Amino acid sequence: MKNTMIIEIDCDRMDEKKLIIAAKILREGGTVAFPTETVYGLGANALEAEAVKKIFEAKGRPSDNPLIVHIARMEEVKSLAKELSEDALRVMEAFWPGPLTVVLNKKEVVPTVITAGLQTVAIRMPAHPIAKKLIALAEVPLAAPSANISGKPSPTRGEHVVEDLDGRVDGIIMGGSCHVGVESTVLDMTGEIPTILRPGGITREMLLQVLERVEVDGALGGDTDAIPKSPGMKYTHYAPKAAVYIVKGIEEKTVEKIKELASVYRIEGKKVGILCFDESYPQYQEGLVKSVGSRRELNLVASNLFKVLREFDGTEVDIILAEAVEEADLGQAIMNRLMKAAGYRVINAK
Ligand code: TXA
Ligand code: MG
Repeated sequence: MKNTMIIEIDCDRMDEKKLIIAAKILREGGTVAFPTETVYGLGANALEAEAVKKIFEAKGRPSDNPLIVHIARMEEVKSLAKELSEDALRVMEAFWPGPLTVVLNKKEVVPTVITAGLQTVAIRMPAHPIAKKLIALAEVPLAAPSANISGKPSPTRGEHVVEDLDGRVDGIIMGGSCHVGVESTVLDMTGEIPTILRPGGITREMLLQVLERVEVDGALGGDTDAIPKSPGMKYTHYAPKAAVYIVKGIEEKTVEKIKELASVYRIEGKKVGILCFDESYPQYQEGLVKSVGSRRELNLVASNLFKVLREFDGTEVDIILAEAVEEADLGQAIMNRLMKAAGYRVINAK
């Protein structure tokens, strides 16, 4: 057990002294969790293999799943990656700092523990004021995966990180909730056509405003024959303890189907959780019902999703029936995370 330093920081009145302490821990090879606008990350000095290994240990993360390197200034990209194409420069210009990770060909300085042996490196410049300041003060790029125990939903509140990593890391910065709520979009820029390896806060539609072509990787849909380009895609992530089933169809039919299934499970003696939207919430009379927000405000849904999945973990439910959302814009990222939580189990409501 480590003696984890809990560092509370108010985003509006940022206490630089506290961040200097956290930055020092990082510079000396320690691990510190910090908020970003997407989810909390668990950081370590990206240029030091020994420091990076501690991240894998703390999370129980498989060593073949590479990490994202977080930077604070544009010049740092040039020291980590080679051959920046015009397209790559254009997306970075348009969406950094922000929830976009770009995969580029790596330079020698990037240790292979970070890239899990790949010749590419994933880089992101976060927009969260604490993350930005911390990286700048640490004066080194930070390798940082989501700050959860491997397989659990990503943390979007400081409390989630404490729940998972207290005693396993050197420091945890508690800095409120993450407003995007789903992890960054991972965009592979090393091939002919820029390819989304993980949908996130920056949608395909947004990328198409600055790039001529953007593909979505075939392995994303749970297509088991497609070879994942991003090793993280093959793991069942975000899994709550209960078995999750996604119910798809037009809203009315979906609600009907979920109600029907809920009563069947109740008769079988199972405890049912229902994950729905504000619009259908009043229609459910049985089960533990939780809304992730309004279908008309998907940005709020995204920022609530992992919190609600974690809340179910604190309950006795055996099964979670989840309403699907249309896979457009941010709906792509939301459905991607829900599908992973469900292990791709889908029930069609006809
Ligand atoms: O929003 C985020 O991206 C958060 C915050 C903390 O920045 N981080 C995050 O990291 O979600 P993580 O480790 O949970 O997810 C990183 C994803 C994984 O799916 C991994 O396989 C992929 O990025 N990845 C990392 N390096 C890669 C590379 N060189 N090529 C392809 N995929 C890569
Ligand atoms: Mg993760």
